[in-house]
Amino acid sequence: MTTQIQDQIQARRTFAIISHPDAGKTTMTEKLLFFGGAIRDAGTVKAKKTGKFATSDWMEIEKQRGISVTSSVMQFDYDDCRINILDTPGHQDFSEDTYRTLMAVDSAVMIVDAAKGIEAQTIKLFKVCRLRGIPIFTFINKLDRQGKEPLELMEELEEVLGIESYAMNWPIGMGKEFLGIYDRFNNRIEQFRKDGTDRFLPLTEDGELAVDHSMIKTSYYTQALEDIMLLNEAGNDFDQEKVRNGKMTPVFFGSALTNFGVQTFLETYLQFAPTPQPRKTDADVEINPVTDEFSGFIFKIQANMNPAHRDRIAFVRIVSGKFERGMTVTLARTGKTFKLTQSTQFLADERETVEIAVAGDIIGLHDTGSYQIGDTIVGGKKTFNYEKLPQFTPELFVRVTAKNVMKSKHFNKGIMQLVQEGAIQYYKTLHTEDVILGAVGQLQFEVFEHRMKNEYNVEVRMESIGNKIARWIQNEGDVKESMSSPRSMLVRDRFDRYVFLFENDFAMRWFQDKNENIELFSLL
Ligand code: G4P
Repeated sequence: MTTQIQDQIQARRTFAIISHPDAGKTTMTEKLLFFGGAIRDAGTVKAKKTGKFATSDWMEIEKQRGISVTSSVMQFDYDDCRINILDTPGHQDFSEDTYRTLMAVDSAVMIVDAAKGIEAQTIKLFKVCRLRGIPIFTFINKLDRQGKEPLELMEELEEVLGIESYAMNWPIGMGKEFLGIYDRFNNRIEQFRKDGTDRFLPLTEDGELAVDHSMIKTSYYTQALEDIMLLNEAGNDFDQEKVRNGKMTPVFFGSALTNFGVQTFLETYLQFAPTPQPRKTDADVEINPVTDEFSGFIFKIQANMNPAHRDRIAFVRIVSGKFERGMTVTLARTGKTFKLTQSTQFLADERETVEIAVAGDIIGLHDTGSYQIGDTIVGGKKTFNYEKLPQFTPELFVRVTAKNVMKSKHFNKGIMQLVQEGAIQYYKTLHTEDVILGAVGQLQFEVFEHRMKNEYNVEVRMESIGNKIARWIQNEGDVKESMSSPRSMLVRDRFDRYVFLFENDFAMRWFQDKNENIELFSLL
C-alpha cells in the first residue's frame, strides 16, 4: 500500500451523533458541515428535514410525519481530517437501523439538552456504543437557555450512564447570563457572542483570567472558578486510555444554535477521535485498516430510494484497503464474484458517483437483491466474514396477515425479503404458524406495510399485540410447549429458536419463579 493511501486512511474520522429527539442533533450537524465548508448556508439540512427533497417513497413517509427515516452519511474536510458523519434517525420511532449505524462508526458524539439531561433514547443508543467500547464525546447543548446546574448534569451522566466524565470546559453563567466557557483543555476563556480578537481570553497559571475584564466581578465567574476548583480536586483526571475505550467521556458545553463552542469542540474532538479501527472476523482474526486488501461489511440496506427504478442501496463500511470503482470483489456469504461499477458517495446534500474510497469511508452500492445486512465483501482472493452484527431485542409486536388470502405467495415472499434485509423481525406461533413481526420502533411496521403494498402488491392486516418482553432460551431442550400461555407466549424466531414473549416484567418474573431451570436471555 502506498504511503499516500495510508495517510488518507489515517486522516479519516467516522462517527455518529446520538441524542434524544430535539436535543439539537440536526443543528449541530449543520454547524459541523458549515465549518467543513460542505454547506454554504447552515440551513440546508433543516430544509431536507421539512421535505423539500422528497425524492422517494421513504421521504413521503418522512414528509407526512415530519421525521427523518433514512439515516444518511455526510462527508467533509476539516484541518487535515476527512470526516464522515453517519446520521441516526432521531425520532421516537427510531429503528434497528439506528442501532446498526453505530456498528459502522469508530466513535460517537452524544448531544444532551442542558435543560432535560439524559433522556430515554440517549440511554438506549449509549448502551449500544458502550457495548462496542467506542469513544463517546458529550456535547451539552442549549447553554443559551436556562438549564440544569452543570455539576448536576455531570453527576447525571455518571450515574445514569455509568461512565466517568471529564469536563473539557465549563460554562460561565447560563441562559440570559451566559458569558462564555472556561476552557480547561485549551487554557482560555471563550466569550459568548464575541467575535474577533477578544473572543478568547488567556488564563494565568493559577487558572484565573490573565486580563482585566468586567466578567471578573460577576458571581457567574466566581461560581465557575469554584466549580473548576472542585473538579480539579475531586473530579476525575483526564485519561486518554479510558477515553479510547469508552470508559470516560470528555464533556463539552455550548450552544449549537448560536454556533458557540462548536468549533472548539470539533477541533478538540479531532485530536482524540480514533482513526479507522481494526475489525475482527468471525474466526477472531483482526483485520487492520491499513492493508492492501479491500474489505468491508454491509450495515444497512435502503430500498426504493428511487421508486421508478425500485433500486436498493447497500451501505458499506470500508474496513480495510482501498475501493476503486470497477474493482472485482467477492461476496463472502455466497462466494460470488462481481464488479462494483455502481457506487455512490454521500455529500452534504447530494449523492455522487464515487471512484475511490478508503478504510473508514462509507459507500453505497447499487443492489438488485444480492446483499444482506451483515454481508462481508472482500477484494482479494481469500474471503472471510466479519463478526456478525448483533440482532436487537424487539419491543413491539404485531400479528400480520394478507388482506387477500389469494396473495399468500407474494405475502410470504415479501416478508422473507424484508426480514432478510433487516427491516423487521420474524416470528411464528407454534402450531398455527401465524406470522408475528417484531420491531424496535413503530416506524418499522409502517415502512413494512408501505413496502408490502408498493413493492409486493400485497395489502396487509396488522393487529397489534402490543409491547412484549422477548427472551431467548439458553437450554432450549428443557422447554415444553405447555409452558406457553397468553401472558408468556412461546413462539419461534426465523432461525427456529424458541422465544418467549412476556406480557410484562411481572409475567416474566412469575414465569421464572415457576420454571427456575429455564435460562432466559435477551439479545441486545
Ligand atoms: P434534533 O435534530 O436533535 O431533533 O434537534 P434539532 O437540531 O432539530 O433542534 C431541536 C430544536 O432545538 C430546534 O428548535 C432548534 O432550533 C433548537 N436548538 C438546537 N440547538 C439549540 C441551542 O443551542 N439553543 C437553543 N436555544 N435552541 C437550540 P425548534 O423550534 O424545534 O425548530 P426550529 O423552528 O428552530 O427549526
